[in-house]
Amino acid sequence: MIDGELLKNIFIRRIHPDEPMPYGLLLDADPSRKAISKYLPSSEVHIALLQGEIIASIVLSMPDADELEIKNIAVDEKLQGRGIGRLLLDYATRIAIKKNARNIFIGTSNASIGQLYLYQKAGFEMTEIKPNFFLYNYPDPIIENGIQCKHMIVLRKDL
Ligand code: ACO
Repeated sequence: MIDGELLKNIFIRRIHPDEPMPYGLLLDADPSRKAISKYLPSSEVHIALLQGEIIASIVLSMPDADELEIKNIAVDEKLQGRGIGRLLLDYATRIAIKKNARNIFIGTSNASIGQLYLYQKAGFEMTEIKPNFFLYNYPDPIIENGIQCKHMIVLRKDL
């Protein structure tokens, strides 16, 4: 449920070069440190702060000039379900518009039911399936909601 009072006190900005990467959050969204270190150098990391503490993060990348990808999005476990994820998705959409992207997209797994719900509610539509993506790219099985993460579902929003 959206917690308007909480959201009013959240400030989102790009991380400064001298700040430590919020690896705890990044690894919540993507269990592979190897995969994260591959996309970080070509991405922008943005953080959400509440009373000076980092409580969420979002990693954005532009694989080509007209589309923006959300590579990683995570909210502190204690604060999930109160509207911060949606706030970050809307923030990323505004950045994509500013960068003149024609669409914004995000990939998640076939087993990530809550994420698929959230992204569709935020206006993203399923446009592609990358079969066996998680089997090929992650050494250990990942289980969510009792289902194995096998395929990547790409959801896209035209801007
Ligand atoms: N299960 C069920 N429902 C969910 C889930 C979930 N995992 N996540 C969000 N929702 C629902 C909320 O209940 C809410 O529904 P409502 O509008 O009907 O009340 C709606 O989606 C909005 O949710 P928010 O509160 O804005 O989302 P939240 O702040 O919890 O952030 C996020 C969502 C980022 C997925 C968070 O749960 C999280 O950090 N999860 C762990 C990391 C993760 O899985 N990241 C995404 C991986 S994919 C990628 O990074 C590209």
